[in-house]
Amino acid sequence: MSETAKFILNGETYEFPVTEGSENEKGIDISKLRAQSGYVTLDPGYKNTGATESGITFLDGEKGILSYRGYSIEELAEKSTFLEVAYLLIEGELPNKTQLEEFNENIRKHTLVAEDMRKFYQAFPHHAHPMGVLGSLVNSLSSFYPESQDPNRGEDAVDLTIYRLIAKIPTLAAWSHKNAQRHPVVYPKNELNYSENFLQMMFSVPSEDYKIDPVVAKALDLLFILHADHEQNCSASTVRIVGSSQANLYTSISAGISALWGPLHGGANQAVIEMLEDIKNDGGDVTKYLDKAKDKNDPFRLMGFGHRVYKNFDPRARIIKKACDDVLDALGIDDPVLDIAKKLETAALEDPYFVDRKLYPNVDFYSGIIYRAIGIPTEMFTVMFAIGRLPGWIAQWKEMIETKQPIGRPRQIYTGANARNYVELSKR
Ligand code: SDX
Repeated sequence: MSETAKFILNGETYEFPVTEGSENEKGIDISKLRAQSGYVTLDPGYKNTGATESGITFLDGEKGILSYRGYSIEELAEKSTFLEVAYLLIEGELPNKTQLEEFNENIRKHTLVAEDMRKFYQAFPHHAHPMGVLGSLVNSLSSFYPESQDPNRGEDAVDLTIYRLIAKIPTLAAWSHKNAQRHPVVYPKNELNYSENFLQMMFSVPSEDYKIDPVVAKALDLLFILHADHEQNCSASTVRIVGSSQANLYTSISAGISALWGPLHGGANQAVIEMLEDIKNDGGDVTKYLDKAKDKNDPFRLMGFGHRVYKNFDPRARIIKKACDDVLDALGIDDPVLDIAKKLETAALEDPYFVDRKLYPNVDFYSGIIYRAIGIPTEMFTVMFAIGRLPGWIAQWKEMIETKQPIGRPRQIYTGANARNYVELSKR
């Protein structure tokens, strides 16, 4: 007899099935709750609410487990490449040699963007935040490829849109950086791999090609892998709900970029470095800032700390922290901000406020230090997160479309004014 949940409401007993996932997670299926009882549930921030079943990414917040399609993040970080992980997330299986070569070739073929798009960059002020530029330009791709408007147009059309997105987002991102610098854009070089191509578009100038350091390119590929998906996070849920209205994939991804921009989500990596810089410029007193983070009257939060799901450690943060040391050693960089980050982490992990609330460094705490060492401007950090997260957003959107999920439309509990008659202006 499968497990059920019983609710006693208003003297009536209602019984609902319990669903169990492949990793023994359990959920009460309340899809018939309102029809049977007239009640809805209330769960601001969906802290206890599953929006979907999914076979893409598994997280265990207590054990610090993260896996993509069953493969651990530790193994993928050590043995895979970002485009291979992108294939795995989107197709559900690791590619064989032929499949990987075809996938890489399909990406390579679409790295160029329509030359007309350069006009968009000229219209943005140079101080425009690159996340705002990226979100706008990704959305505009649907205008250049109208055949992508219909997500149900067939596998080939959807695959072509997927290749275009993965291929073009590094070009669009690098060009937003060049626009901010008021420098000429650099075109993709398809003989380079994904990370190398992005780096040369970011840092080459007409008089000198960027010299690719394999350590830097590998570190970037690793960071993209670590950011590739994270189940139903804020931005992935945004992509799914926008896509659930049958809006096209470009605009669904653009919505994900907007959600990621927030400092509580992907924008945290920029906020972490700004916070660490503030602490350094203020004399490096980490205790003062820990006290600010604990003070309920102080809006300051320890950026890069805490997580909705991870309550022991974020496995990605552990991998990135080690990569920090490796990259800075390899590049011969001694970044005082890294020392402050380590001091802050040590102090916080011994502080009851953080320990009691299970607040640990998350993926954003150390990633910015590597981006900084590579030469990525701070304002571009969340763009880097978006490039990495794109395959995950695509996989989540594709699963939602293929499983024919209904349009997302949550309920509410109304707490406003009760029915009342209109009052003429002269009588108010
Ligand atoms: C990402 O969901 C994902 O998977 C996201 C992500 C992904 O890969 O997609 O992992 C990427 O977004 C990582 C998180 C990046 N954000 C930050 O680093 C911003 C700082 N952290 C937070 O603001 C916060 O921890 C969240 C937003 C990450 C999680 O918030 P929750 O789950 O809503 O928890 P909460 O705000 O209810 O906090 C619980 C308690 C509160 O204190 P009390 O009311 O119990 O006294 O912990 C406190 C909070 O005030 N708290 C913090 C804190 N984070 C939580 N106090 C100080 N500093 C912090 N960073």
